[in-house]
Amino acid sequence: MTDRAAPSRPPVLLTEEAIHRRVAELAREIARDHEGTEELVCLGVLKGSVFFLVDLVRALPLPTAIDFLQTSSYGSASTPGEVLIKKDVALPLQGRDVLLVEDIVDTGYTLSTLLALLRLRRPRSLKLCTLLDKPDRREVEVPVDYVGFTIPDRFVVGYGLDHAERWRNLPYVGVVDP
Ligand code: IMP
Ligand code: MG
Repeated sequence: MTDRAAPSRPPVLLTEEAIHRRVAELAREIARDHEGTEELVCLGVLKGSVFFLVDLVRALPLPTAIDFLQTSSYGSASTPGEVLIKKDVALPLQGRDVLLVEDIVDTGYTLSTLLALLRLRRPRSLKLCTLLDKPDRREVEVPVDYVGFTIPDRFVVGYGLDHAERWRNLPYVGVVDP
């Protein structure tokens, strides 16, 4: 016996089946909108979007490339919404069709910062896709093209999303009370 009890699994918000169904629908929609593309460059925002991105690209009947970037927010009261780029994209984007893939849009600062950054690279097209959207928390508007699920203002984990790095490998999306 250890003195550290295993934490109980978070209650389910979205089942594994519901997520996989929705990912397949999103893939069909994205494929329809990008028919005839030479290659769709799918950019995942580390680390939360990794599980979503790999499922999504496997369901896409298109030529694809993948790459990753990483951000963190300073979260300081003096610089609200300032987003730090910890890792930039390695692939050239100029003239290419790009899909930015996020796990969740909360305040909107991360995606709006990345959108401005990626636009400077002059892609041929640039669309935003998120698995989850928490519109109640939005502080800046961001034009998201594909939303998997709109959810209430709860802290969620699983399918890539974490709370202090825990729970990313849950196969479903659950709710925690931090
Ligand atoms: P935003 O810049 O406020 O839109 O924040 C987006 C980032 O905050 C996401 O990419 C997540 O990493 C994190 N985040 C926001 N809400 C949640 C949540 O409910 N669970 C886990 N991570 C979250
Ligand atoms: Mg994220």
